[in-house]
Amino acid sequence: PGTMKINEKNHLEIGGCDCVELAKTFGTPLFVMDETLIRQNCRSYINSLEKHYQNSEVIYASKAFSSLALYKIIEEEGLGLDVVSGGEIFMALEAGFPPEKIYFHGNNKSYDELKLALESGITKIIVDNFLELDMLNELCREMHKNVNILLRITPGIEAHTHHYIRTGQIDSKFGFPLENGQGFLAVEKVLKMKRFRFAGLHCHIGSQIFDKEPFEHTVSTMMDFIRQIKDRYNTDVKVLNLGGGFGIKYIDTDKPRHVEDYIEAITKKVNFYSKKYNLVPPKIMLEPGRAIVGDACITLYTIGAIKDIPGIRKYVSVDGGMTDNIRPALYQAKYHAMIANNCKAEKKELVSIAGKCCESGDMLIWDIELPKVSPGDYLAVFSTGAYHYSMSSNYNKIPRPAVVLVSEGQAEIIIKRETYKDLVKNDVIPKRLKNKST
Ligand code: LLP
Repeated sequence: PGTMKINEKNHLEIGGCDCVELAKTFGTPLFVMDETLIRQNCRSYINSLEKHYQNSEVIYASKAFSSLALYKIIEEEGLGLDVVSGGEIFMALEAGFPPEKIYFHGNNKSYDELKLALESGITKIIVDNFLELDMLNELCREMHKNVNILLRITPGIEAHTHHYIRTGQIDSKFGFPLENGQGFLAVEKVLKMKRFRFAGLHCHIGSQIFDKEPFEHTVSTMMDFIRQIKDRYNTDVKVLNLGGGFGIKYIDTDKPRHVEDYIEAITKKVNFYSKKYNLVPPKIMLEPGRAIVGDACITLYTIGAIKDIPGIRKYVSVDGGMTDNIRPALYQAKYHAMIANNCKAEKKELVSIAGKCCESGDMLIWDIELPKVSPGDYLAVFSTGAYHYSMSSNYNKIPRPAVVLVSEGQAEIIIKRETYKDLVKNDVIPKRLKNKST
């Protein structure tokens, strides 16, 4: 996708940069992000929402991947930001992201995190539970601040995706369930508090969803709740935030819909129910994460040890693994890959790609057809932009890879490779142990 192609040297190229050159210049493992495609992805959400609906906002879900440079791009493209922790707030502010475009999420925000948000000028909070409502009320009183509240609702929708990344079903740690009147109770509380402005409702049904139907069901459930709120409290719900979750392609059998299809389906339903229930159409918000950065990145690895167990399997090991991509181990996620220095060669070997961590489960790809490989070849794994770097770790004391941003033949580091020194920067040896060893 994006600016990716195979060049005359038979090398993979992305953003006008030869991947072999990138690997040699910056080392491996290396995340390579395609600025053009990130911007295109942003625009496709903004433009199709604007095309189909008069009042909308797209915010980027930081958890997919955050960096100061990415936040600059997101801001330039006119998206707002979804943050879920004090750390993400700090990052966004460091990047100079306007606080009025930041929405603070999370199912267990601490008092300090809420305070940081209010101090920083963030006034849009997606409240998840009753404790948070109370803490926020207290803080607003102490700090003489007013906040806009969106209530996170669990609409009871079962999206067909891996159960770890499903979030909209009733049995979930997130949000106020519509059952037992908890949703109404939350609305009542918000309406009652002087420093709260009831801005609207939020829901998120899961991630990597290919169908539009779960979104349509969600809209109908949420619009019905909005109607009931209007009936009971004579209050218009001004914002309906439907979360993220739009699927992307990792392997050939993945068939996500086009952005426009999801958006057309969603906006149609919102318009339909607004008319049916005689409601002021709410502003629609979406918060894609994966769909913005997921397919706009590849990981380059160097191939090392190759172990052939005749008749059983050929293991091809690379210089990274579950430390930079936990998704195969955590969700049985599948990936497509290519030999970046030999793209067109005939695929004649069935191999499995192993990571370098001391875990049998550290396998990046089980069974993939590749040309015959040798140590020193470069492997490119596709669609590694979302939930890879952001979920990376230092297991086995492996430093995190670098991230480069490519565009029109230029490659620039946006996150430096960690060094061995970085691995000990937080370690402290107590004095008495120091004395013993010297
Ligand atoms: N909004 C909320 C409230 C969310 O919880 C999430 C994702 C998003 C938006 C963005 O969803 P997206 O558009 O990226 O699907 N680590 C998992 C995905 C976890 C998603 C968590 N929440 C993975 O690697 O597949």
